[in-house]
Amino acid sequence: MATDVKSLIQEGAELTDRALEELIPSAETVPSSIHGAMRHSMFAGGKRLRPVLAMQAAVTIAGKLPAGIARLGAALEMLHTYSLIHDDLPALDNDDLRRGKPTCHVVFGEAIAILAGDALQTRAFEVLAGLDTPPAAAVQIIGLIANAVGTVDGMIGGQVLDIESEHLKPTPELVEGIHRAKTGALIRVSVVTGGIFGGANAEDVTRLDLFGRKAGLAFQIVDDVLDMTVDSAQLGKTAGKDAATEKATWPAVYGIEQSQRDAAQLIDEAFAALEPYGSRADGLKAVARYLVDRKN
Ligand code: IPE
Ligand code: IPE
Ligand code: MG
Ligand code: MG
Ligand code: MG
Repeated sequence: MATDVKSLIQEGAELTDRALEELIPSAETVPSSIHGAMRHSMFAGGKRLRPVLAMQAAVTIAGKLPAGIARLGAALEMLHTYSLIHDDLPALDNDDLRRGKPTCHVVFGEAIAILAGDALQTRAFEVLAGLDTPPAAAVQIIGLIANAVGTVDGMIGGQVLDIESEHLKPTPELVEGIHRAKTGALIRVSVVTGGIFGGANAEDVTRLDLFGRKAGLAFQIVDDVLDMTVDSAQLGKTAGKDAATEKATWPAVYGIEQSQRDAAQLIDEAFAALEPYGSRADGLKAVARYLVDRKN
């Protein structure tokens, strides 16, 4: 197995891309406009970090990469990409650059972009229903993921809070609530469901949930910092957007340097939850470290 994190991520991303290629209808499939739109956003060059986290969580539990996990990763990445397509819509963040390419609605129009997001969501659950894992595990995975992208402490709920908090003076509690929900929940559930796919028991799930919770919050803190410190070309999305729209971000409350310290500390705290796994968790830890060291 790859020891350095760059190749670990690259291998996981390639496995994910191969699964996605199989699972998303070709751009020629009728109605072709929506399949073209789904593929445009899906293959624009995302980092595939949620699938990679799921894979390394599975390795932490099973000691090796379980066969068939790429489809779980692909479903998680479909849900993430759906959330990005909708996040960029004029009604939400109104962004025209994503993953270094024009956003879905800029290329395909708003109607098709909305529907492409919807379609990635339904396709993700169809793929999850067919996972190569015992039925009880599949049902548990589907329930946890549906909850994590839902309205109560989930992705959609977080997006609602995010939009409704624009132009307000952010408090620590508000920003933590937004970040845990809009971004943290999907990261956390990627780790947890990867573990379940690898055979995690209830104690394992509790540990992975704690780890994923901390890593997920750290991830969005870093996203906020990068928005202020890196240019659009390197980010592949419009830089400086959070300040321009007065978003409730971590740096808006704590400043950039404290935010960087907080993200690093959360990762250290997250590592403590993985202690019982010894070196089996090395890959998962390396990816988590990358979440805060990344430059895009
Ligand atoms: C960006 O996520 C959106 C957030 C939830 C903060 P990523 O930084 O993982 O974006 P991609 O998938 O690599 O484009
Ligand atoms: C996006 O948060 C979170 C989701 C897509 C659910 P942001 O709005 O900060 O993400 P970017 O910065 O546009 O990628
Ligand atoms: Mg947003
Ligand atoms: Mg945005
Ligand atoms: Mg952002």
